[in-house]
Amino acid sequence: MARKDFLDIVSLDREEIIQLLDQAEPFKDLFTRSVKKVPALKGKAVLMLFYEPSTRTLSSFEVAAKRLSADVTTFDVPSSSVTKGESVRDTIDTLQAMRADYIVVRHGLSGQPAAIARQTGASVINAGDGAHAHPTQALLDAFTLREKFPEMEGKRVLITGDILHSRVARSTSTILRKLGVKVAFLGPGSLVPKTASPDIPRFTNYDQAISEFGPDAVYLLRIQKERMAAPFFPSDREYHNLYGITDERLRQLAGEGTYIMHPGPINRGVELCDAVLDYDRCLISQQVENGIAARMSVLYGLKPQTS
Ligand code: CP
Repeated sequence: MARKDFLDIVSLDREEIIQLLDQAEPFKDLFTRSVKKVPALKGKAVLMLFYEPSTRTLSSFEVAAKRLSADVTTFDVPSSSVTKGESVRDTIDTLQAMRADYIVVRHGLSGQPAAIARQTGASVINAGDGAHAHPTQALLDAFTLREKFPEMEGKRVLITGDILHSRVARSTSTILRKLGVKVAFLGPGSLVPKTASPDIPRFTNYDQAISEFGPDAVYLLRIQKERMAAPFFPSDREYHNLYGITDERLRQLAGEGTYIMHPGPINRGVELCDAVLDYDRCLISQQVENGIAARMSVLYGLKPQTS
């Protein structure tokens, strides 16, 4: 992969995706060794620039960059001059003086990482922009699913919940479909956009989705209330009863051997009941662990235009 930046999944072809997935495997093998570092990015500087909160993505990128022996700086946006009104463009110009080779960006505005990428020779990695894209989440999701289904072609993933506001739904559905996985959407009509690709089946009824689509994995999305100006459904309890993984639905899924995934953070009692976390086919922890290997693969494969 000779790319400078990693901004979305749409612009990757299947071969590039497979190369990134293959490349992540030896990085995952590193985790079980006593020395968990390789010198691939020794002497390189990685800057984390998160304008939105993050637990998994930020810490995962920090660990990934450090395991590649890079020097990592995490720019603390809430205590920075951003709070005094400094623009993203001026912030980047200022930070350029630190000569970062890689800038990992999360921002609430769709397209902001791409704008930064045009401004700098550093490799820019999109760690989530608005409702647009979350490409490293998609890569780790594909990696996690491929561990369970080495032949992914024809497998079925039901993406459930707040699809309207979800950059994860966009990026993960795109990567899975490029790998031959069949994807369907399930959720309240208000949260499943009619503009989604016409060849992705849309369901608004849980039982119908399970019986007609027959998923190998159910991928739960967080309800993103912070992106909702007004409620999109009557109550959390009603959402849980209609679309959440309840104890009864968990028993049914366990009977079919269906995997459960979620990008996190989870809302217990909304998308899922507590028992899901103890289900042996719940892949949420593996997703987090695989995020490090997937992000190491992305960092390793990019070519910054810095001297
Ligand atoms: N999945 C995900 O992006 O989680 P964080 O918001 O904690 O990074």
